[in-house]
Amino acid sequence: MALKSPRASAAAPLAELSEAELLERARAQPVPAHVAIIMDGNGRWATRRGLPRVAGHREGVKAARTIVRAADALGLRYLTLYAFSTENWSRPENEVTLLMRLLEESVLRELPELMERNARLKVIGRTRGVPLPVRRGIDRVVGATAANTGLTVQMAFNYGGRDELLDAFRALARRVQAGELAPEDISEADVSHALYTADAPDPDLLIRTSGEMRISNFLLWQIAYTELWVTPTLWPDFGGADLYRGVLDFQGRTRRFGGV
Ligand code: FPP
Repeated sequence: MALKSPRASAAAPLAELSEAELLERARAQPVPAHVAIIMDGNGRWATRRGLPRVAGHREGVKAARTIVRAADALGLRYLTLYAFSTENWSRPENEVTLLMRLLEESVLRELPELMERNARLKVIGRTRGVPLPVRRGIDRVVGATAANTGLTVQMAFNYGGRDELLDAFRALARRVQAGELAPEDISEADVSHALYTADAPDPDLLIRTSGEMRISNFLLWQIAYTELWVTPTLWPDFGGADLYRGVLDFQGRTRRFGGV
């Protein structure tokens, strides 16, 4: 998608526009099919207020709900949220326990609204290692929304980009071993289809909150040509207007995919 919009560059400073105006502008141009978000800064949000880190995660859940609604209003087809990485297990036990419970509860609570929006929940990551009750709760929502045809929310949960690649390489090696595939015939499409994100297009835009300039083991294969947008806003403060500003910035860029 080559995107260079005179309208966007002639626009008033985005900071001055309301959320509704930002949405209108973003919708007037081709909307990215897939936005992925590294939701960062819950802990700092809480610490700055003298609150326990878990208070930041609770606010983070509210921000996630807001962004699902905003993504739906914008007409995104895929929204991928980095909810829990394989590295997050090294956090204090009480924080991990609360995060697990919080993610399960919030996903279950969202089921009626996901159905109303015709939205589908998918989970990407290793299910092994996730406590069984949490897995069951989340699987219930994944199953109930599986036939929905609107926005797909991909929740990266117990997700690691290198683990995903390892799992894909192992699956491909098994196909080679079974005589189904010759090593020299393995294509990029074969690798893409062996990933957890098999059915999703690669992200057009990756947003990271809280100002950190890192990829943090997220969607390593899929973001080869993804546009990046980093905002200093901490995740609990990130709202629809921020999402639309990121998308408008993306819409003002020219994507070259390595060409000229
Ligand atoms: C980053 O903050 C956030 C996480 C570890 C992920 C948890 C995300 C949520 C609870 C948001 C809700 C998501 C869904 C899909 C319902 P951090 O703790 O790394 O912040 P810090 O870098 O300031 O310590």
